[in-house]
Amino acid sequence: MKISLSVPHFFGNELHNLKQCIKKRWISSSGSIGTAFEKRIKNYIGSKYALGVINCTSALQLSVRLLNPKPKDEIIVPSITFVASVNAIVYNNCKPIFLDCDENLLLDTEKTLEFLNTKTFQHKGACYNKTTKKRILGVIAVHTFGNLVKLSKKFLDTCKKKNIKIIEDAAESFGSYYNSEKKKKHAATLGDLNCLSFNANKIITSGGGGMIIFKDKNLYKKGIYLASQAKDNSTYFIHNTVGYNFRLSSLHSSVGSAQISQISKIIKKKKMIHDLYKKEINKINGLTILEQPHYCVSNFWLNILIIDRNKYGLSKDQIIKNFLGKKIETRSVWYPNHLQRPFKNFQKYKIKNSKKLYENSLCLPSSFNLRIKDQIKVINFLKKKFR
Ligand SMILES: Cc1ncc(COP(=O)(O)O)c(C=O)c1O
Repeated sequence: MKISLSVPHFFGNELHNLKQCIKKRWISSSGSIGTAFEKRIKNYIGSKYALGVINCTSALQLSVRLLNPKPKDEIIVPSITFVASVNAIVYNNCKPIFLDCDENLLLDTEKTLEFLNTKTFQHKGACYNKTTKKRILGVIAVHTFGNLVKLSKKFLDTCKKKNIKIIEDAAESFGSYYNSEKKKKHAATLGDLNCLSFNANKIITSGGGGMIIFKDKNLYKKGIYLASQAKDNSTYFIHNTVGYNFRLSSLHSSVGSAQISQISKIIKKKKMIHDLYKKEINKINGLTILEQPHYCVSNFWLNILIIDRNKYGLSKDQIIKNFLGKKIETRSVWYPNHLQRPFKNFQKYKIKNSKKLYENSLCLPSSFNLRIKDQIKVINFLKKKFR
């Protein structure tokens, strides 16, 4: 049997909830089942407004749209992220500006501040790029693998002062939080618009699904309007702008509601998986497990193996291939987006770490239902170098 990277686990209530949907004939996007899921998510993370959408990609696309972009406006995004964060910018006829990652594979906010402070200017309340003379609308802070971008007070204040909106891409980090202040602050509660994913491989799943978390009530209302085909009159089908059919169905929401009730259990198990990897793998010369940064508590969604090839003797590609031969699924960290064909002509700023991080890191099996004996198998293959 194959050891998978990150597969969903069902606890039992999912089927019950799905049956209820079908029984009540509430299967589409309107009705109380979707609202109940939104409520559970917003209560858990401590926010006021949540809108369920079909996936996180559409959540990101709609979030950029809600910033009222003009063609060729620019948005800052890290080079290392899943392609959806970048596509969301391009779908809106805007341009990405690629920034580097720090040692935790997260947007380097120090370098972003340096860019904002030296390479931009303010004009009529907006921030402009000195190089392209285009308006910079926002920054997408992608919380990768469960860890959170260092959204320091300095960073948040600078963005506010420069009128740069923050979109959190928290697709992978539902349940993670900042611990540096007295009150814990969850991922997806700091930005102006914040996006979650409930794809099958995520910490909780609704089959497919996403959510936008809003701070602002008017923006939330506009989000509902745009995600529901922008109907200005639903009897006569009047549309004064172009909308989307993005709302999450009740069927999906019902599965999501069953899953969120298990979140503490899931995160507890994920931490156990992380702790075992960390304890055993950090003993191996040339290998380390990426740890949570000191300022946050991770949901430990996926475990990242960092390889020092000279010390360990095998490269990332060799390790992936060897694991594949043992029917163990691992995965490379994403190829840097500033080097991808559709994006390589966009601006990049002092990118030094991303390529190296890509070359030296891979994702290890981290499913909720990963058995200890399978995890030990993974660890032993690494210890023995697959011999
Ligand atoms: C960082 C990040 N952003 C966005 C997405 C897109 O999420 P979805 O599959 O729900 O569209 C993913 C999903 O893998 C992701 O990892």
